[in-house]
Amino acid sequence: MATKEQFTVAVIGAGSSGLSMLKTLRDDGFKVTLYERRGQVGGLWAYSENPVVTTALKSTVANISKYTCGMTDFPMPDKYPHHLAQADFQEYMESYAKHFDLLKDIVFNASLERVSRNERDTKWEVEVVVDGKRQTLEYDKVAFCHGYQTKAKMPEFMDQDKFEGLLIHAQGYRSPEVFKGKKVVVVGVGSTAGDIINELVPVASQVYASHRRGSLFVHKWRNGSPVDLLTTRRRRQMAMFLQRNFPTAARTIADLGCRYMMWQSWGHLDPSWRLTPFPSLTLSIPSTGANIIPSLKDGTLISLYGLRRFVGPRSIEFDDGTVLEDVDAVIAATGYTADFSVAPFVEQSRPSDYSGPLISRLWKNLFPPRYADSVCLLCYSGFGKNNGFSFSDVVSMAVSNVWRGVHPIPTREEMEKQIDAHHNWVASRWRLDNKIDVSMVKQWEFQGFLHEAAGTGMENLDWGWKGWKFWWNDRMMYNYMNHGVETSHAFRFFETGKRKTYPGAREAIIQANKAVKVFPIKGIK
Ligand SMILES: Cc1cc2nc3c(=O)[nH]c(=O)nc-3n(C[C@H](O)[C@H](O)[C@H](O)COP(=O)(O)OP(=O)(O)OC[C@H]3O[C@@H](n4cnc5c(N)ncnc54)[C@H](O)[C@@H]3O)c2cc1C
Ligand SMILES: NC(=O)c1ccc[n+]([C@@H]2O[C@H](COP(=O)([O-])OP(=O)(O)OC[C@H]3O[C@@H](n4cnc5c(N)ncnc54)[C@H](OP(=O)(O)O)[C@@H]3O)[C@@H](O)[C@H]2O)c1
Repeated sequence: MATKEQFTVAVIGAGSSGLSMLKTLRDDGFKVTLYERRGQVGGLWAYSENPVVTTALKSTVANISKYTCGMTDFPMPDKYPHHLAQADFQEYMESYAKHFDLLKDIVFNASLERVSRNERDTKWEVEVVVDGKRQTLEYDKVAFCHGYQTKAKMPEFMDQDKFEGLLIHAQGYRSPEVFKGKKVVVVGVGSTAGDIINELVPVASQVYASHRRGSLFVHKWRNGSPVDLLTTRRRRQMAMFLQRNFPTAARTIADLGCRYMMWQSWGHLDPSWRLTPFPSLTLSIPSTGANIIPSLKDGTLISLYGLRRFVGPRSIEFDDGTVLEDVDAVIAATGYTADFSVAPFVEQSRPSDYSGPLISRLWKNLFPPRYADSVCLLCYSGFGKNNGFSFSDVVSMAVSNVWRGVHPIPTREEMEKQIDAHHNWVASRWRLDNKIDVSMVKQWEFQGFLHEAAGTGMENLDWGWKGWKFWWNDRMMYNYMNHGVETSHAFRFFETGKRKTYPGAREAIIQANKAVKVFPIKGIK
């Protein structure tokens, strides 16, 4: 049996999840190699021209502010704007990789084809194509950090072969030039649709948004402050307490609050746009397509019903019977899924009384029970993370502690039982809304487990004895961490013996809380 120091690990993907995983596992003594199919680090924030790869557009701006989205031990430089743009994120992650000397353990232009168990069931066979050459390599462990939004979700539209215009998924969209003077229908009103519509409106002859139901739109700003600054740790805890113990009341409160915020941010919404009613915030991720409503208001964007079928080379019929003629292009901004084709060993099932999509059998939406000590998949936990970046370190610290034996996990039978219970919960959500992302997790359960396994010491901020002690001894930090900016440096503040602290955490937390004193900024709504 290999000792921890001899264990080899393949990490797949060099986005925020993979970079953090490489660094954490290496710090904890594993021998790690990361495989990345792009030529650079940054994940989907590293802009790519390859049309079958998901990329942030050059105009994409993060939906959360720089105050809440840095890594735990690498503060965001002051030079960035309040919300980072694609190029800023790419630069931030490049400097993170350089600072921690990660590049030497990354193989670029290396596309993972498939991971399977070797014949003796002792190791993983990792099939990668590096610079066009196929290789099969053996590893003790594999961490899949290859992204939540890796495969395009492309609907099959009725009679789509009749259409002679351009029909693409948003994954293949790069810039508005080719749509100059064209009549374009964008399907969906999520954040990706918002980014694309923003680019198309100034150049296309007319842009349409086809959507089958309403959507909650969250503005990045509220009363002159980034909206994510409204969420403090204490408020998140209270929301999770309500969701756990009083789910119906939590949903009602969340929905009422969202309705108020929609009204406050956008004023009157023309009912003909059908943006309300929108799916509950507790069941679906809101859209940050901030320009969609202003464009509807000034008429540069026209709302259409769901796309029913193509009726001719350039004609489309919508769910209300409207037929639109002379359409040049349709862009389906209909979302993404994780890519499980590279991990065929992951089992799937459906609970009884449920006819939705198959649900992957992953304990805590991370570990396949049979191989929990050697495989994790970080691409299947909708709603789980606070945001796509700052939580990466908590996940990788937890995985490392599970694999190092620092944090115990249940038996395989117990994991299977817990998965069945979780799937029943997902099915109950699906009965409320059959369009939910079935990788959704109970945030309180998911984050509770990860913080405990990672050993972040967050219990020192709770209402128990440890919390009171910390409040008594260090009131300022207690208040900053509970009621101030939700910065990830807090995850490396307390000494727990389970993971490394960040010596600069105290200063970085104080700094983040001082920096946000510039808000509210007059003139930003
Ligand atoms: C356009 C867009 C904007 C977003 N904006 C935000 C935001 O503002 N805030 C937020 O919190 N979240 C946002 N998200 C969610 C997103 O999940 C996170 O921003 C973040 O990118 C997740 O990091 P990751 O490392 O898990 O995955 P990714 O960033 O997707 O990185 C995965 C990496 O794995 C590589 N890879 C995939 N398959 C293979 C393979 N077979 N072989 C080798 N390498 C492979 C990819 O090339 C990629 O580099 C956004 C998503 C999209 C699509
Ligand atoms: N600037 C940013 O920060 C930014 C930019 C882009 C993306 N993102 C993130 O990336 C993730 C993916 O966003 P996304 O907008 O690509 O996907 P998404 O949030 O899943 O939205 C998909 C949209 O397509 C619609 N849709 C899905 N399937 C459909 C079908 N078969 N027919 C018709 N309409 C369909 C959905 O409507 P229904 O409600 O009817 O299902 C929804 O409006 C999100 O987490 C988002 O926050 C962020």
